[in-house]
Amino acid sequence: MNKSLIFANSSDLYNRASKIIPTATQTFSKSRMQFPKGKSPDFLKRGHGSHVWDVDGNEYIDFLMGLLSNLLGYADPDVNSAVVRQLEKGVSFSLATELEVELAEKIQNLMPSMEMVRFGKNGTDATSAAVRVARAATGKDGVIAIGYHGWQDWYVGATSRHKGVPQAVSELTKKVPYNDLVALEAMIARMRDNVACVILEPMSVVEPFPGYLKGIREITEKKGIVLIFDEVVTGFRLAKGGAQELFGVRPDLTAIGKGMGNGFPISAVGGRRDLMMEFENVFFSGTFGGEALSLAASIAVIDKINREDVIGNIWQKGELLRSGILAEIRKCGLDSAIKLQGVAPWQILSFDKIHSASAAEVKTFVAVGLITSGILTTGTFNMSFSHSIEDIEETVSSLARIFSALTEEAKVPGLGERLGCPLIEPVFKVRD
Ligand SMILES: Cc1ncc(COP(=O)(O)O)c(C=O)c1O
Repeated sequence: MNKSLIFANSSDLYNRASKIIPTATQTFSKSRMQFPKGKSPDFLKRGHGSHVWDVDGNEYIDFLMGLLSNLLGYADPDVNSAVVRQLEKGVSFSLATELEVELAEKIQNLMPSMEMVRFGKNGTDATSAAVRVARAATGKDGVIAIGYHGWQDWYVGATSRHKGVPQAVSELTKKVPYNDLVALEAMIARMRDNVACVILEPMSVVEPFPGYLKGIREITEKKGIVLIFDEVVTGFRLAKGGAQELFGVRPDLTAIGKGMGNGFPISAVGGRRDLMMEFENVFFSGTFGGEALSLAASIAVIDKINREDVIGNIWQKGELLRSGILAEIRKCGLDSAIKLQGVAPWQILSFDKIHSASAAEVKTFVAVGLITSGILTTGTFNMSFSHSIEDIEETVSSLARIFSALTEEAKVPGLGERLGCPLIEPVFKVRD
């Protein structure tokens, strides 16, 4: 708390952007909806390691890390030099390149269930390609989704943000809650077995209860339903081989993205050979699918994961942060109002009301406190290889101050008004 930050350049840029760019950004999660308006930066200029600088020159420890895409940290020297080497040779070619084969082999090595591999740019490309292949292979249209899977019609049609998606498409996808095998079986029955695939995040903010993933595997196998693991977040984060390695369950298809390129736009879909061979006919084809800088970046990321204990490192530092935050929550008696969910590499604070403060007031109070402490996050902690012990100690001691101030502030009605900015309300809960 305590830094008095100026956001004059951010504010000027925001005014220009909002005239010409809807939501003034390309990603909902980076928009003003997610941050305390006027009390946090809208635009960043550069990043190095775990730190970023905004357009007004303010420096932050970044725990958003490009929405989990910077697994190693900003401007990682190994990734940068691989990309620069490739840049000298060319970016997008007229035929395939060896890089595609090399990366597919490296991914297959880390995730043996990905017997064959295709590349895309965003995570949505990979999840959507997997769903299309599942439909092609089964001849069925229905999809059961558990978690968040990107912006395409087949998924968002089933969410509250379905504006613009034809109802006929929306009706084909049904969501069921995580960790609920009974609900899954009931839904399959309700859809009269017209189910091409079950797609789920094998783990998001909540851990799978013992037997849950194995249970899904058994149900889908018995019913001839394709099981797709959306490992866009968990791949290259929970374990070298993703959640499927950590929990010992082998899906039919897997989608990965985010950290695999350390910020470069690349994703992949892979899985059982017989299913993947459907891509000989199923249309999944784009100009930039084999773009070479991202392929080179991803090869460098995997080489680094294999060379250094990147995943062990983010677990270790994540645990340190986790135990520090939990101790401060307990010390301040905030257990009922603030929870820390997830596992060490990907943690999320959630908020509830306390005394006379609403959940939104608590969330906004903490968000403002973090930003003014020089910590960029709205409450998630996406660990990267580049976060230092000092980053973690500084974050824990900032949260200690914020929580302690909250215990006093929450007793006095009108916290929202005293914050001097609109409250952050959940505009679109992507995971429920
Ligand atoms: C689990 C999961 N799947 C898919 C996606 C979509 O990825 P992208 O935004 O790169 O299209 C996301 C993005 O946040 C995600 O978290």
